[in-house]
Amino acid sequence: MEYDISPKEFEQFRALIYQECGISLNDSKKTLLVSRLSKRLRMLELDSFQAYYDRVAGETDGEEFTLLLDLVSTNKTDFFREPKHFDFLREQILPTLQSTRRVRIWSSASSSGEEPYTIAMTLRDSVPDPERWDCKILASDISTRVLAKAASGIYEADRVRDLPPDLVERHFLKGKGERAGMIKVKPHLIEMVRYRRINLMDDTFPIKGHLDLIFCRNVMIYFDRPTQTKLVNKFHRYLKPGGFLFIGHSENIQSLDQPFKAVAPTIYRKEM
Ligand SMILES: C[S@@+](CC[C@H](N)C(=O)[O-])C[C@H]1O[C@@H](n2cnc3c(N)ncnc32)[C@H](O)[C@@H]1O
Repeated sequence: MEYDISPKEFEQFRALIYQECGISLNDSKKTLLVSRLSKRLRMLELDSFQAYYDRVAGETDGEEFTLLLDLVSTNKTDFFREPKHFDFLREQILPTLQSTRRVRIWSSASSSGEEPYTIAMTLRDSVPDPERWDCKILASDISTRVLAKAASGIYEADRVRDLPPDLVERHFLKGKGERAGMIKVKPHLIEMVRYRRINLMDDTFPIKGHLDLIFCRNVMIYFDRPTQTKLVNKFHRYLKPGGFLFIGHSENIQSLDQPFKAVAPTIYRKEM
């Protein structure tokens, strides 16, 4: 069965996705939406986009909405993606925290976990006494599907192909037998990260105390300027004075009405 989306139906999906997760779909995304969703409609044996909309709109924190989001957004990520951020963390930030050995970090669009585990590996490998650090990394995403993958810590071995072999040896277990070709993050990293579903559009976040670092990389690019402005100002409230915000390399918050000071490309700091 071939499906066609009416302007009204597209508008309904666009409004729902924008309202629930801040992603703005422009008209050029119509073909993408139709081609990606048609498969789903066929699977559910629904006869129109309207029928699918009615189903999804009724349960925006449920499985079907997560599935819809996965179809329209990208979860693309990598270990050590945009590596300059982790150099900055290792060289400029962690040494200043050595006296307290306490750090609170939020990876706020963590996708399948590569980003929070990279933060954990950076800390483990660059401070002299990692076992004595009180380090907590909160990793969150809107998609429960990617969070489940992240929490499992299991990936295809290909994902670490380009990392230094000694780093892989220190932080991953290689699958054998049935699990050949897979790797698993070692427990010392898994223990450092806690996962939960958080929607960046929420007015407040379930976070107690103030954070040293927030990573929000490669998601703001899908949000419009008012949504970005609101989010960056919210992040500011959750950071300690002197805390840092990391954004994606193709993102820019300089022209938004927000109080951060740029300290390096795509790295911002809250005033002390
Ligand atoms: C491209 S991935 C970025 C992953 C990682 N930060 C990186 O840079 O490699 C974007 C993630 O943002 C998540 N996302 C989209 N809208 C969101 C929202 N409103 N709240 C929380 N996460 C959201 C998506 O589910 C996706 O996993």
